[in-house]
Amino acid sequence: MKFSISSKPLASLKTDALIMPLLPDKILAEEKELDRLLNRQISKLRQSKDFTGEPNKARILFSSGNLPRIILVGLGPSAGLNSEKLREAMSTATTELKKLPLRTMTALVPKLPGISPAAVTQALTEGVLLSHYEFPYYKTAKNNPPKPDSVEFVSLRKAELRLATVGFETGLKLGQIVNAVRDLGNQPANIATPTHLANYAEGLARTHKNIKVKILHKADIKKENMGAILAVSQGSDEEPKFIVLEYRGKTTGAPVVLVGKGITFDSGGISIKPGEKMEEMKYDMAGAATVMGVIQAASELKLLQNLVGLIPATENLPSGKAAKPGDIIRSRSGKTIEIINTDAEGRLVLSDALDYAKKYKPRLVIDFATLTGSIVVALGDELTGVFTNTKRFLDNLEAAAKLTGEKIWPMPLEKSYQQFIKSDFADLRNLGTVRYGDSINAALFLEHFVDYPWIHLDIAGVAWATREKPYRPKGATGTGLRLIVEFLKNLKS
Ligand code: BES
Ligand code: MN
Ligand code: ZN
Repeated sequence: MKFSISSKPLASLKTDALIMPLLPDKILAEEKELDRLLNRQISKLRQSKDFTGEPNKARILFSSGNLPRIILVGLGPSAGLNSEKLREAMSTATTELKKLPLRTMTALVPKLPGISPAAVTQALTEGVLLSHYEFPYYKTAKNNPPKPDSVEFVSLRKAELRLATVGFETGLKLGQIVNAVRDLGNQPANIATPTHLANYAEGLARTHKNIKVKILHKADIKKENMGAILAVSQGSDEEPKFIVLEYRGKTTGAPVVLVGKGITFDSGGISIKPGEKMEEMKYDMAGAATVMGVIQAASELKLLQNLVGLIPATENLPSGKAAKPGDIIRSRSGKTIEIINTDAEGRLVLSDALDYAKKYKPRLVIDFATLTGSIVVALGDELTGVFTNTKRFLDNLEAAAKLTGEKIWPMPLEKSYQQFIKSDFADLRNLGTVRYGDSINAALFLEHFVDYPWIHLDIAGVAWATREKPYRPKGATGTGLRLIVEFLKNLKS
């Protein structure tokens, strides 16, 4: 699909399908013009209440000439209008249009009350791109109707084209990068191995001038004394990799370090998981994929902030060589850990990565991890659990969540649960003596390895969709990327 934006008069448009967003309580200028062109068909639909601009409702009008199909799509009341409503509306429209054999598609960019033209086009562009996501690589028969060759966004106001173009370009990049992150999450674990992730990171550095990459191989990981990563990986025949990405922004300040859990397959190890849904554990590297996506986005959007990405990548498998419950290991930090359950491997690999982050003297570290089933029980599949040792960034994170539609919920680092992760034989145990509230136990465990401002995002529930959601097909969702890019954009340097 080729994407473009321009400004031209309505009468000059020629497209297989024209998308027009509508509000229930306000007639937009673009709607008025289109209504005239369509012999008042839209007004008639409004009068008869056949179509009123309700959210997530669409209606196709068939016409002739240069505009054979017009799809009206509801945004809901203007009072509650925001970027998320626009992305959802584009999802509703594309779901309808996907059934039709279109070569070209055009979306009118309306002037909307209370939202800047840049934010409007960004949301519309993201909505179209994210809704068209597919993972077709392993289907030998192509059943889906082909996607349109060209998608065009048109503003009827020349004066707004410059701002609208800025939003369009941002939306285009973010949409493409989120879809690439989804691809990584959906790739099966026989393809997306730790080595594959390392190659992917090297590819990013090749194609982006301001990204640098360093891969620590097994021998380097040993030299770094990353005993926790080695313990998780020792049951697997795939080599672990520790990926270090660096993005140089325009400032000289201390970097924000992003850490991503990169378990390319989590069988549970010796504490093996039940078979049901185990295949989904190929997405246990969603955090890693998100970190690579944020670094790519920073580079393409030229964010000011310096960034470092750290990814401990390994499989978690049982074998004669695998770590066992009761094993005691020494992590990079020097702290010893008794492995009570080999399925609590995420907190192990992250402990070494969080310790490694100290050497950057970071102004902030954000980790992304599909860490616990417990967070899925607590918050379901729409909310990311946020744990932090500083409240300083929470308002900005909440603002980014509002804008991106990637919702967050603050979770406690409850001190009195510390006792649950003390071991009788080592400094820490990786499973609480009380298993309730495991997402908190896990976060408390991680806190032992940080000495800097830190935000931990438990994305176990949001990174994978088991049901269709607006603009998020089933499978890997890429959730967290747009949230943190928006957050970083607004971080004062
Ligand atoms: N990768 C899983 C967490 C997970 C569960 C992610 C469901 C996505 C969906 C993690 O490594 C894990 O296995 N956690 C265990 C911890 C337990 C053994 C303390 C869990 O949550 O069951
Ligand atoms: Mn596990
Ligand atoms: Zn895991």
